[in-house]
Amino acid sequence: MDARSHWDAVYTTKAPDAVSWYRPHLEKSLEIIERIARDRSSIIDVGGGESTLVDDLLARGYQSVAVLDVSPTAIEVTKRRLGQTADRVQWVVGDITNVELPSNAYDVWHDRAVFHFLTTMEQRVAYVRQVARAVKPGGHVLVSTFGPEGPTKCSGLEVVRYGADSLHAQFGMGFRLLESLKELHNTPFGTTQQFLYCLCRVE
Ligand SMILES: C[S@@+](CC[C@H](N)C(=O)[O-])C[C@H]1O[C@@H](n2cnc3c(N)ncnc32)[C@H](O)[C@@H]1O
Repeated sequence: MDARSHWDAVYTTKAPDAVSWYRPHLEKSLEIIERIARDRSSIIDVGGGESTLVDDLLARGYQSVAVLDVSPTAIEVTKRRLGQTADRVQWVVGDITNVELPSNAYDVWHDRAVFHFLTTMEQRVAYVRQVARAVKPGGHVLVSTFGPEGPTKCSGLEVVRYGADSLHAQFGMGFRLLESLKELHNTPFGTTQQFLYCLCRVE
């Protein structure tokens, strides 16, 4: 099954708060984005799914926000939740490994729990190429994956777990690692999952 079919099936059968990655708000991401972004910063949430990050970014006054996801259903659900405010967002349905993105377009690239699904070298190389092209020099890349003690699977799919060094190594020397942190995410099912966040700057 390809990524679009898999994820669209997930989002057509599950409520937004009935998936393991659900949080009412992505507090860690928000806290970091608020430190690095200005009102006019252009921000893309890659694999945003049905998360409320876009709602929270708009509420904080960010004027240029894009949400990309491989699942058209997730994008539709999020648009519906936002109502008229959805018109202020650039929506992109596509697979991050091959979707066409504008070059030098974003100040902030955010990805929570997407990169770790890229289990082949080809997919990861394609992803990093997208980041390098789409993020402005001096821009920031905030990627969170399952950490070294995180689960080995999510949504029935194999994932790759990372520490700060191994995640940074995927991006290479063109990205300066500014900070990393771990979070214990409480799932809606009463379990915990270790996440790792890495913030890099494009040199
Ligand atoms: C675990 S969910 C995380 C959703 C959201 N970032 C959050 O933190 O709530 C992974 C998301 O990545 C999307 N996704 C998976 N593979 C993708 C790909 N190759 N390109 C774009 N989006 C993808 C899925 O549709 C899903 O919304």
